[in-house]
Amino acid sequence: MTFNYSAGELQIRGHKISDIAKEYGTPVIIYDELYMTGMMKKYHNILNSHNLSYSVSYASKAFSSIQMIKLLDAENMELDVVSIGELYTALTAGFRVEDIHFHGNNKTPHEIEYALDSGVRFFIIDGLDEIGLIDSLAGDLAPDDLVKVLIRINPSVEVNTHDYISTGQEDSKFGLSLSNGAAKIAIDLIDKSTHLDFKGIHYHIGSQLDDSTPFVNAITNVYAWLDEHDISIEILNMGGGFGVKYVDGDVRFPIESGFDRIIGHLKAVAAESGRGMPHIMIEPGRSIAAEAAITVYEVGTIKNIPGVRKYVSIDGGMSDHIRTPLYGAEYDVLPVREAAGDRATVNVVGKLCESGDIIGQGKKLPADLKRGDLLAVRTTGAYHYSMASNYNQMQKPAVVFVGESHVRQVIKRQTLEQLIENDVM
Ligand code: LLP
Repeated sequence: MTFNYSAGELQIRGHKISDIAKEYGTPVIIYDELYMTGMMKKYHNILNSHNLSYSVSYASKAFSSIQMIKLLDAENMELDVVSIGELYTALTAGFRVEDIHFHGNNKTPHEIEYALDSGVRFFIIDGLDEIGLIDSLAGDLAPDDLVKVLIRINPSVEVNTHDYISTGQEDSKFGLSLSNGAAKIAIDLIDKSTHLDFKGIHYHIGSQLDDSTPFVNAITNVYAWLDEHDISIEILNMGGGFGVKYVDGDVRFPIESGFDRIIGHLKAVAAESGRGMPHIMIEPGRSIAAEAAITVYEVGTIKNIPGVRKYVSIDGGMSDHIRTPLYGAEYDVLPVREAAGDRATVNVVGKLCESGDIIGQGKKLPADLKRGDLLAVRTTGAYHYSMASNYNQMQKPAVVFVGESHVRQVIKRQTLEQLIENDVM
């Protein structure tokens, strides 16, 4: 890892965390940008090694910002967006519009119009009523172009993850069922449309998956269905969901061996059904960004309730760290100042007005931890800033990217004025 203790304190690529916290304040999310570009290269390398036509599309919901989009652009990534806001961010950063894919289970007419007007020509169809809507808006706004579409289907595979982030099952608000006929109806409707060009299949079966088995099973189910209905595809988009390590015991998705297995299986299944290989797309989000970052907080009140528990409060909380309250997710909490002495078992909690505003329970931290010390929470690069809120009128934190020889702020801390800028006086 690029975060390590040196000269008595936590550093990232030789930059002291305490210096960064002093300059930008706390809470601050600090990314190792080289970790992220390294992960992008890794996905390219592994898919490239299989002699495939492929693209790697980053799921911008994991963490999106102008500078993040620029990194993705430079690494030849494509981009998924699910809202007008994610699209606006990408376009403002100057991202290639032809490599943007519009997802979402309820794209509003306004969002579709905005996307078409901006030049987006690649949509992932998530429901039957969307087909006529996109077709007619494309007729109005882009009559000379064909809009490429994939249909998002549910491949009915079981995954081993939190219910809230498990998405490939039959009972889901996402996608179209293979078994009840909806997916086939969608393809027939697209064939009858004027402006839509059916390109293939998309699925996203869940997030934080540690094993390739559900991806392999999804390919088996999808190809059986394609064969049954004699449907040809040019593109197979397998979604994202490749797991990361938050705490000891978590298993990262094995990217090299996992893709060897998935692609090997796909080649066999495609050959068996007498087809060529489709263009492969994947959509990693978390695995690119999560382990690249830590969030640094300053310790405030420490409350020792004798015989009960010790609470250490930090200067952020569920407004920038919702994954523990929402999913029960676990994190490593590290003291920024290296401490060799006694440890105390504490609950690290936020400053928001909820008992569930917990960062970590039963954490072993230096017994002499005191107000003003800094704590770092690891693996906060995905679904932290992007899920941040202004609950309790908390300001969204600053975000900093670190490289070999630079530290650069990429998102400023939200100001007090910005908290009320839309209020009518
Ligand atoms: N593609 C689609 C269509 C998705 O819905 C998602 C995530 C991804 C790709 C990227 O998945 P990833 O590689 O990041 O696992 N807020 C939750 C995660 C929600 C994921 C939603 N979809 C969390 O914090 O765990």
